[in-house]
Amino acid sequence: MPRQEFPAGFVWGAATAAYQVEGGIQADGRGESIWDRFAHAPGRVRNGDTGDVACDHYHRYREDVALVAELGLDAYRFSVSWPRVLPNGTGAVNRAGLGFYDRLVDELLGKAIAPHLTLYHWDLPQALEDRGGWPARSTAEAFAAYADIVARCLGDRLASIATLNEPWCSAHLGYGTGLHAPGRTDPAAAGAAAHHLLVGHGLAMQAIRAVAPRTPAGIVLNFEALEPASDRLLDLEASTIANEQMNSWFLDPIAGRDYPVAGGRSWSWRQNEILPGDPGLIATPIDFLGVNYYTRRRPQSPLLPAAEPPAQSPECTAMGWEVHPEGLTDVLLFVRSRTGDLPLYVTENGAAYELDPADPTRDPDRVSYLARHVAAAHRAIELGVPLRGYFVWSLLDNFEWHEGYGYRFGLVHVDFETLERRVRGSGRYWASLAAAPRASGTAGAAGAGR
Ligand code: FCB
Repeated sequence: MPRQEFPAGFVWGAATAAYQVEGGIQADGRGESIWDRFAHAPGRVRNGDTGDVACDHYHRYREDVALVAELGLDAYRFSVSWPRVLPNGTGAVNRAGLGFYDRLVDELLGKAIAPHLTLYHWDLPQALEDRGGWPARSTAEAFAAYADIVARCLGDRLASIATLNEPWCSAHLGYGTGLHAPGRTDPAAAGAAAHHLLVGHGLAMQAIRAVAPRTPAGIVLNFEALEPASDRLLDLEASTIANEQMNSWFLDPIAGRDYPVAGGRSWSWRQNEILPGDPGLIATPIDFLGVNYYTRRRPQSPLLPAAEPPAQSPECTAMGWEVHPEGLTDVLLFVRSRTGDLPLYVTENGAAYELDPADPTRDPDRVSYLARHVAAAHRAIELGVPLRGYFVWSLLDNFEWHEGYGYRFGLVHVDFETLERRVRGSGRYWASLAAAPRASGTAGAAGAGR
């Protein structure tokens, strides 16, 4: 393969998530989500920002699909708002809410853009949180019923369907640190939530298989490159624990392994929620795995005196996340060590940078960040990783969770006063990748791993 030629069928795309872009939180019978409740509670989100309007994608989706088409991208990854489809989390379907995704999918297909759908990108119906949220097993069962409804309606038109986005964040930021909705700070609840998210994934996989057996189905997990802060034994151990908690906790049981031991011990989760059939359920075969990668962390043992800061401070994005492209190669190799030939996608990668006040569409730093990560992904392919596609986070500047609108990740600049969209330099760069020829040969289908 000549330098930077990507395999036949390789997919270039961009990603968004419902609560971060849609707005229209009361449109057409949508129910309340935990993020509506959280964002409206004082002090939870920077500047008191909320997703009430966001990018108003709910009303402007045609314009946004036209932008994806203008960039010539192959694919668009989006998520469905559960409370739009089921305002109470369970029970009666809100046809108008489901209708939005029906129109979105048709709009994408009409422009030859492959729709990649995620069922859950963190916006749990508040009604389900009121009944216990993810720490309660009933939420996993409700999730499977929701998966059935969406897969039945849209399944045969989708290029792929992912159950969960980054369950680590849902469990630990939502129920452990409380940084994310619903904002609970209870380590035992976080452990239970993590397990029930995986049970929900397994149940949803089975529901999807039953009604849309030909749609490639899988899950999206987040990974970090990890390197111990020093070569002292305690830092090595801290790094191993971090790796088990961050990189292996969800991947291993999906790949048919046990929960990692050291990570679990250090979380002090008593594992009472595991029922006899759960490991098999969680390991229900998947057709692809989505890998989200942004940065590297250097774990340090709390038992050692703080290490000297490095002589040269590392290159960071506006959010203070270290830019470490080689980590993407490492993470992809790590995932492959568990998943073998299973098709992988980079389902998120990207960076926030400060706006150039003279021209908010000028973003050379983002182009440089992306180009170096694309090279790292290419390196992984050369090393045999079955990588099938790459989605930038994000198509649009949007609501960055507890950080509000302060940090911008878009290939497209959004003016949050006028909601005008303007393609950035990074958007044109991404368009050039999508326009480049792929290697000749047969495309690796997302379903090839089955
Ligand atoms: C990921 C989330 C995504 C976005 C990026 C920056 O963890 O999945 O929604 O916020 O981080």
